[in-house]
Amino acid sequence: MIAADVADELVAAARRARQQAYAPYSDFTVGAAVLCADGRIFGGCNVENASFGATVCAERVALFSAVAGGCREVEAIAIAGPGGEPLPPCGICRQVLVELAPGADVIMAGDECTRTTTVAELMPEAFGSGELRGRG
Ligand code: THU
Repeated sequence: MIAADVADELVAAARRARQQAYAPYSDFTVGAAVLCADGRIFGGCNVENASFGATVCAERVALFSAVAGGCREVEAIAIAGPGGEPLPPCGICRQVLVELAPGADVIMAGDECTRTTTVAELMPEAFGSGELRGRG
């Protein structure tokens, strides 16, 4: 688990990123922040679309931004959504976390409480690159 002060910093970055959310259809604003092994932090927010299926969640925006910035090892991701309770990542984002951040801590921040878990706990028996290899 990452240190408490680092987790606090990451949650603050996720809350800042949330302020950029483009969510005119749901009005459900979400922010995320990814901590890379080299110490860099990449933020992301949800970006919606009139063609709803084209919407991208905050977690994936942050993860893809980190990859585009050259990050290949993610230590942790913080997620900040509306309401007091921690916001869990959706199923598609969990699959992307398995791909890009399999060893990461996941810090889910609500206004009133925060819960920390891991990608492995959120996505047991995941389909990943190991399944593609050796079964072709
Ligand atoms: N959303 C996220 O950004 N992350 C989540 O973990 C759950 C859902 C976004 C997608 C959409 O813009 C809005 O929240 C409502 O689903």
